[in-house]
Amino acid sequence: MVSVDNTYTELAKYYDNLMTSGYYDHKGYATSLQKILGERRKILDMGVGSGLLTEQMLLLENYNITGIDFSPAMLTQAEKRLKDNSVRLVCASIEDYETSETFEAVISTGGVFCFSYREQEQQYRLYSYCPNKDVQMKSLKKLYDILDKDGILCMSIQGDHTNSEMPIKDGIVYTQKTDFGEQSLQKTYTFSANGKILSQQQMRLIFFDEKEYLSLFETAGFSLVGQERTQKFCIFRKNELKKG
Ligand SMILES: C[S@@+](CC[C@H](N)C(=O)[O-])C[C@H]1O[C@@H](n2cnc3c(N)ncnc32)[C@H](O)[C@@H]1O
Repeated sequence: MVSVDNTYTELAKYYDNLMTSGYYDHKGYATSLQKILGERRKILDMGVGSGLLTEQMLLLENYNITGIDFSPAMLTQAEKRLKDNSVRLVCASIEDYETSETFEAVISTGGVFCFSYREQEQQYRLYSYCPNKDVQMKSLKKLYDILDKDGILCMSIQGDHTNSEMPIKDGIVYTQKTDFGEQSLQKTYTFSANGKILSQQQMRLIFFDEKEYLSLFETAGFSLVGQERTQKFCIFRKNELKKG
């Protein structure tokens, strides 16, 4: 029996192997963000993980990036990857992030929140690592507070969560299993080699369908700028006056 733990401690052991085995494209995400961000340079990478997105961003422009993540195991890898850069790394959960700094944009590839397009329903869905709707709202309000006027929030659009199995590097096989509840998804991640489990982790995500998440973002003070799969990101802009 694996316990539910959202801190990425087990997953961190093989995370980079999975991400760099050809199924994910951080370079493509960074290129798309470069266009979306325009002249914006002061950036927060939310759920920076092992630093793969920030690394690609810094190859494109002289961005001033802070990375936040609540998983010490993931941040240890980010520290190694980004050691030659002036990136600041913060270990905190986004809703508890205390800072006097503000940012021109918050970017994220799968960290804290991400979006999926559901072909069957022809609409997007927001998945979140927040434990419940209250923490979700607290996180969105925090993002509102740390963004500059006209600041934007760019969160990646990914494939939908499905059961799958794929070979990754070093003879390892990655399996993910999904169990959907009414408003939540339990995901089991397993890494194995020669039929033996090397590492396993279960995580719980909550989700919101389009109408509901649009209302949550609006209440927190954001307007939708765009959500297009070709652009790879859902983009929200901070409104001038905070509602709610
Ligand atoms: C799927 S990984 C994405 C990592 C990285 N952005 C990438 O593209 O490889 C999700 C990351 O978000 C972090 N995370 C999840 N919820 C968080 C929260 N509330 N505050 C800070 N980090 C969080 C996890 O620890 C994990 O490192």
